[in-house]
Amino acid sequence: MTIIHPNFGTMDASRVIIFDTTLRDGEQSPGFSMNLDEKLRMAETLAELGVDVLEAGFPVASPGDFEAVNRIAQSIKGPVICGLARSGVADITRAGEAIRPAERKRIHTFISTSPLHMKYKLRMEPDAVLEAVIASVTLARNFTDDVEWSAEDGTRTDMEFLLRCVEAAIKAGATTINIPDTVGYAVPEDMTRIFTTVREKVPGADQIILSSHCHNDLGLAVANTLAGVRAGARQIECTINGIGERAGNASLEEVVMAIRTRPDANPYHHNIETTRILRTSKLLATITGFDVQPNKAIVGRNAFAHESGIHQDGMLKNAATYEIMTPESVGWQKTSLVMGKHSGRAAFRDKLSLLGYGDIGDNALNDAFRRFKDLADRKKIVYDEDIVALVDDEVTRG
Ligand code: KIV
Ligand code: ZN
Repeated sequence: MTIIHPNFGTMDASRVIIFDTTLRDGEQSPGFSMNLDEKLRMAETLAELGVDVLEAGFPVASPGDFEAVNRIAQSIKGPVICGLARSGVADITRAGEAIRPAERKRIHTFISTSPLHMKYKLRMEPDAVLEAVIASVTLARNFTDDVEWSAEDGTRTDMEFLLRCVEAAIKAGATTINIPDTVGYAVPEDMTRIFTTVREKVPGADQIILSSHCHNDLGLAVANTLAGVRAGARQIECTINGIGERAGNASLEEVVMAIRTRPDANPYHHNIETTRILRTSKLLATITGFDVQPNKAIVGRNAFAHESGIHQDGMLKNAATYEIMTPESVGWQKTSLVMGKHSGRAAFRDKLSLLGYGDIGDNALNDAFRRFKDLADRKKIVYDEDIVALVDDEVTRG
């Protein structure tokens, strides 16, 4: 059955919607809150990146959050603008008011469905939760035809109850159903089983978009997200740099590039302009004051840097030997061959030519290379200036 979505129209079966929640789930991580101007700048950059849905905040949370969602709804064109709401009337009404100015808008409403959350957090019986699902989705539909419903702690929810909630949400008018791995507990096989079962057992599940929202407590958020997509999810919820509660959310840049780089394993397409990934990541780091770790996939400073002699030699012969995507494809200017104690003669010679040295002769090259290695044993990174000083000295002495 073809899906006809209120904001995306007729969905191509291999199209994956990228739902960015940097400004909502991402902002919920300690120390990552952003002010209005910062949120507006991020929202503009996310729109240029090509995200399909921009979850701009949780309007009932504070007047500032309401204003941010409302201003983004007024000024950002392109993505569907989404506001989060729990299942109560106040939350949904506030979210509806905040997103009102947007050309294309969505309310994302959620309630916990796992035994643990229902008993200790909500203190509600399952039947009352089921009623809240129906009431919340029905109310949200008064503000927009695009309503997403999430089963918080969905991956730890009893399957039979999850199926009843999903069916009720679809009947009440939800057009996207999200089954989050709220606490990052799932393994990819769980995601496969859950999404496959929902698709097989829930009437109407083939007419709505299923969504995968994974947290990274076990470092499995991206793998779990993609497992969900392989089992039929067609929306990915993610954040720039993987920021989010605790260990974070699935990282946008990683899921997007996993799809782009491995179409054999992930035969889907998305609208992300991947060459804008790095600048978006850097803007977020500047705004929040949190740099990504050097070895972070795609956007870390070492993601396209090579120090070992063997790797540098391979890279100089053919970049595909040690790079599975080009740095330019995600916004880096080029690969960097970092000069350190593991670097070999081939990279040293290449560096000299990049620094403008012609042929300095074999003897000078050998001596300079030996002195470079001595220096590299003492310094973690040898900078271009160090090499220039060393070679100039060698050439003058020689
Ligand atoms: O992780 C989660 O369950 C959430 C919901 C609000 C969707 O962020
Ligand atoms: Zn979350």
